[in-house]
Amino acid sequence: MKYPITVYGDSILRKKAEVIEKDAEGLKEIIENMWETMYYADGVGLAAPQTGLSIRLFVIDASTGADEEPELKDFKKTFINPEIIDLKGDTWVMNEGCLSLPEIREDIIRPDTVRIKYLDENFVEHDEVYSGFAGRVIQHEYDHLEGKLFIDYLSPLKKRLLKSKLNDIARGFVIPHYKIKIPVK
Ligand code: NI
Repeated sequence: MKYPITVYGDSILRKKAEVIEKDAEGLKEIIENMWETMYYADGVGLAAPQTGLSIRLFVIDASTGADEEPELKDFKKTFINPEIIDLKGDTWVMNEGCLSLPEIREDIIRPDTVRIKYLDENFVEHDEVYSGFAGRVIQHEYDHLEGKLFIDYLSPLKKRLLKSKLNDIARGFVIPHYKIKIPVK
């Protein structure tokens, strides 16, 4: 089942998401639905709050980055209750987009390397280090669990320039190719 995607203006995107219990009901199905939703929306990653669920879960398929980073060829991972342990390395700029901010792309500066602890879909614990494209997407998706969006990193001026576009998204005037849940005013 595909979920409609929550967009800017929906308060769930600003909430800190809840920790997931090991025996959480329907979790397997939620994860399957998130993969289905992400692929249909042509996303590289999708966090649960973007599907209307305020829980600490995101999925990433970073294999599109394999042209430049061959080790990403099979990068397809589920992150449950992730915890960023450390951010390091030189910062770099990437032009980011987000399914919850349709038609907006901005250059965002982030550190290169992230150390992250998380549980996979079988509740097996991992403690891993990622950099480059994978490190970038992980940081972006993790932010969703903390109620943050990439536009939060922009300068006040840039944010002001985006204001009318953001208002249009919140009012449901921006219709992407995937199904969205229009924020209720
Ligand atoms: Ni996003």
